[in-house]
Amino acid sequence: MSERAASRTAVLVCQGRAAADGRAGTGRFADPVAVRLLRAEERTPVEQVRANTPPTGWRERAAYEGVLACAEVVVPRTVAIDEALRAHAGDQLVILGAGLDTRAWRLSELARTDVWEVDHPASQQDKLDRLPAEQSAVSRSVRFTPVDFALDDLGTALDGAGHDPSTPTAWLWEGVVPYLTRDEVRATVAALAARTAPGSVLVVNYQSPSTRAAAGRLLTRFLGSSITSGEPWRSLWRPEQLATLLDEYGLRVLSDDNLLDLAHTHGIPPQGRTSLRSGRVAVAESR
Ligand SMILES: C[S@@+](CC[C@H](N)C(=O)[O-])C[C@H]1O[C@@H](n2cnc3c(N)ncnc32)[C@H](O)[C@@H]1O
Repeated sequence: MSERAASRTAVLVCQGRAAADGRAGTGRFADPVAVRLLRAEERTPVEQVRANTPPTGWRERAAYEGVLACAEVVVPRTVAIDEALRAHAGDQLVILGAGLDTRAWRLSELARTDVWEVDHPASQQDKLDRLPAEQSAVSRSVRFTPVDFALDDLGTALDGAGHDPSTPTAWLWEGVVPYLTRDEVRATVAALAARTAPGSVLVVNYQSPSTRAAAGRLLTRFLGSSITSGEPWRSLWRPEQLATLLDEYGLRVLSDDNLLDLAHTHGIPPQGRTSLRSGRVAVAESR
């Protein structure tokens, strides 16, 4: 098992959702569970963003700006993914690199769905430590399945956790692809495709190459954020590259949109962040 710390980007994304809850994308976006997964010190920048009160110290200000930027990205991303999952809710949902995902605790459409949360062992343990005892899942079940995509066999882990490869599965892979090498992405697609019965769907959020987004991450690093520096981006995909890869494994892309377009489609006015253009959500079905 690999030695590594729990994901900090997972915390940042959760902070973004907590900051946006009830403030952005009203009527389309809500994540009241997110804040409950945050520790006291992680809630501080969230509260500052919600109150629109930027702090003065540079380190605090960097944390504030990180949460603010993240909130803008996660709203259209969450709304688009939730909609795709509602449309394809069935017996099984596997969330790859789940981080502090809250869907099993907030999406009532999953009442008849077994959810597998697959994540790096360190990140998964961190989530288990954070989950309040009184927070019960709304999905039929949640099965925590530790997997390091760089080292472990996903199929073996899912077999051990009771996933049925002969029943259709909705696969969700949100905010993880950039942190994997191209070979790890391919290996994960191959492993999930081998367990993808007809009628299955894959919802994948990934990053396409963008000079602006790369410059933004460099700037964040320069400003002292150890969050992004600890978890570097390892692979960016152009839509046609991802479609070709998925096609090789029997998955046909039905839609693939950038977050800016998704924000417009879902009636969530963006604040003009061009970074929304490089984040994408693709939905593919088994052929
Ligand atoms: C940015 S977080 C996204 C979390 C969640 N999907 C979301 O959107 O809120 C990245 C996630 O990828 C997971 N991850 C990154 N590399 C991984 C690996 N090699 N094996 C398993 N999980 C990994 C991290 O543990 C973390 O939970």
